[in-house]
Amino acid sequence: MTSATLNARERAVHVVWSDGEDARFPFIWLRDNCPSGFHPQTQERTFDLTSVRADIAPKEVRAGNGAVEITWPDGHRSLFDAGWLHDHRPGVRMPDPADIPPLAWRRELGASGIPRAGADDVMASDDALLDWLVRTRIYGLSIVEGIADSVAAGMAIARRIGFLRETNFGVDFQVVSKPDPNNLAYTAHRLPLHTDLTNQELPPGFQFLHCLANEATGGGSLFCDGFAIAEDIRAQDADAFDLLSTVSVPFRFHDADTDIRCRRCVLELDEAGNVAGINFNAHLADIFDLPADLMERYYRAYRLFMVMSRDDAYLVTLKLKGGEMVVFDNRRVLHGRDAFDPATGFRHLNGCYVDRGDFDSCIRVLSRARGMAAQAAE
Ligand code: OGA
Ligand code: ZN
Repeated sequence: MTSATLNARERAVHVVWSDGEDARFPFIWLRDNCPSGFHPQTQERTFDLTSVRADIAPKEVRAGNGAVEITWPDGHRSLFDAGWLHDHRPGVRMPDPADIPPLAWRRELGASGIPRAGADDVMASDDALLDWLVRTRIYGLSIVEGIADSVAAGMAIARRIGFLRETNFGVDFQVVSKPDPNNLAYTAHRLPLHTDLTNQELPPGFQFLHCLANEATGGGSLFCDGFAIAEDIRAQDADAFDLLSTVSVPFRFHDADTDIRCRRCVLELDEAGNVAGINFNAHLADIFDLPADLMERYYRAYRLFMVMSRDDAYLVTLKLKGGEMVVFDNRRVLHGRDAFDPATGFRHLNGCYVDRGDFDSCIRVLSRARGMAAQAAE
């Protein structure tokens, strides 16, 4: 039997559940989250917080029948399900199926350790799709194989996850050696390890590179886990880690039609101090404009990250075959390629992006369906 008591001094309702667990729910939180304040269809909050005083306090609190009932001074009554309150105990984050801890990897992963999925499976089965997305979240990298020989077939897999992120290079971009390139990717040059579009306000999340042809000599793909490098820098060189995660540098792309700029730190940390994003692209780095007395110290840290991104200890290499698509978290895993010789054969990758938010939404929706199927089977 759940009990609920009003604690005026703490300005909170103290709830004790039948298993002995307890929590304190501040008055203002209870009023803001009254179930009547949410639209019955959209589930969005319709309650206007400014319609009540910040120091609002209940007139009466009662518990019984698995519910907590609160009466407010204006007569409004809030009925909370005791289980719902338990799920939303202040200070406890709601479980998130997309909150999948990354597993840092280094060269030992090898090309054979990269998770793989079959195109037909992920197109036909929600279970296969979810398994693949979860593995891609863990490693930040995977390969889909058996894709039909068309640009549309690769994009259909990305679209199965969510909306494509359009950029100044289009909804999708053809990575081929072009006569008049506006991007080094559209040449036959080597591309050192980088993350794409660090000059954007929000660099794209997941990147899809579908290989349609890779007949030229060279053109192998390179990958490394930026989170592994960042963690090693944190352990080895606290000053470098601090500079890379607190000092922002300018990035810029400009051509005839665009001039897209953003400042960002090479290492992005979340609230808990975990590395949550990597921004590293020497081609898009603009002229560093740091104070003169910080410049050399910063360059030392920046160069350390660059040296490590080229260290074999972190490197996984492979040569994509026609019908394969590499999928990676562009804000975590750095990618690159060896130079190729266009005279020896055709090389064509088609690229597109799906942002992390849409990718994670797909994981949540598929997990919801899986949870319901499991419940039905019980
Ligand atoms: C890119 C890129 C890699 C490749 O287009 O951003 O890095 O293998 N391409 O061509
Ligand atoms: Zn790239």
